[in-house]
Amino acid sequence: MRVLVVGKGPVARVLATSLAERHQVGFAVREQTADSLLVETRRHRTARRTVALTTAGEGWDVVISTASPASPGVAGLLARPAVVAAVTQVPSEVELLRELAGDRPWGLVVPGFFAGGADPTWWWPQARFTVAGPASDVLRSLFARPQPTAPLAAPLVSAAATMPVVAGLHAADFDLATARHSSPQLAAAATQARDAVAAGFGGPRPRPVSRHAVRAALTVLPRLAPFDVPHYLRSHFGGHGEQTVRMLRDWVDLGRRHGLPTDELDALLGRVPA
Ligand SMILES: NC(=O)c1ccc[n+]([C@@H]2O[C@H](COP(=O)([O-])OP(=O)(O)OC[C@H]3O[C@@H](n4cnc5c(N)ncnc54)[C@H](OP(=O)(O)O)[C@@H]3O)[C@@H](O)[C@H]2O)c1
Repeated sequence: MRVLVVGKGPVARVLATSLAERHQVGFAVREQTADSLLVETRRHRTARRTVALTTAGEGWDVVISTASPASPGVAGLLARPAVVAAVTQVPSEVELLRELAGDRPWGLVVPGFFAGGADPTWWWPQARFTVAGPASDVLRSLFARPQPTAPLAAPLVSAAATMPVVAGLHAADFDLATARHSSPQLAAAATQARDAVAAGFGGPRPRPVSRHAVRAALTVLPRLAPFDVPHYLRSHFGGHGEQTVRMLRDWVDLGRRHGLPTDELDALLGRVPA
């Protein structure tokens, strides 16, 4: 198949080098500087792949966007192929993707790792993508190795557990110790976010997030991860602040629509720089 990946950031690179060799892969870029790019990613081994660079969306069987479907030009790239997908876990972007897909199969290809850098791009702990939505079978068949599938709500509920903590880090200017002090509020916000997403996208009511789990995650992650966690959080999530705010707003909207409490999410939203 011909697979177009929108974007050429770390997630696009890990995705391109995770697809089976038999597929032809291209990157949709905003400005084309060359015809192709040799992409290198590594963990235990170095994976390489030459991908075509393009600004057009013609002739692709599958398009997977690592950029927001709401970003200018992305809807046009998603307009023609038989199957469309995105890595997003932002509820309103998932709704937009569903709308853009219309009668065509669509899905989510959600990264379950941290990734950064270019040539080589690194990832941790595993280059795993959770595949969800009506096009799951086709999307899963693109990969060189088996990837987990999940109901549509699952990766969204999972993001609702972690992203309020990221929002709390953002509010604390990515100082882990400061964010740890607000673990009870972050856990309460995450619980409200998960309830709102489960109500909006179906699925059982999720378990509440415990403040001890939030505190433990903020303590343990920097010890376990083989990279500079504060630096990574600041450089990656600091650059995706708009996305974090959009998620918080979406959870508040979903919660209100379903008559659920959103006060902790509202309070967090007030503390995150837009
Ligand atoms: N990195 C991670 O560890 C990780 C883990 C889990 C989830 N995610 C999520 O996955 C997504 C991608 O992550 P990332 O780290 O690869 O982000 P990134 O470095 O910001 O990459 C996004 C890519 O999308 C491109 N893009 C944005 N708008 C576009 C448009 N309108 N047309 C064409 N290309 C466009 C950007 O192009 P330019 O180069 O021109 O800016 C960039 O190459 C984000 O939503 C992120 O939150 C990331």
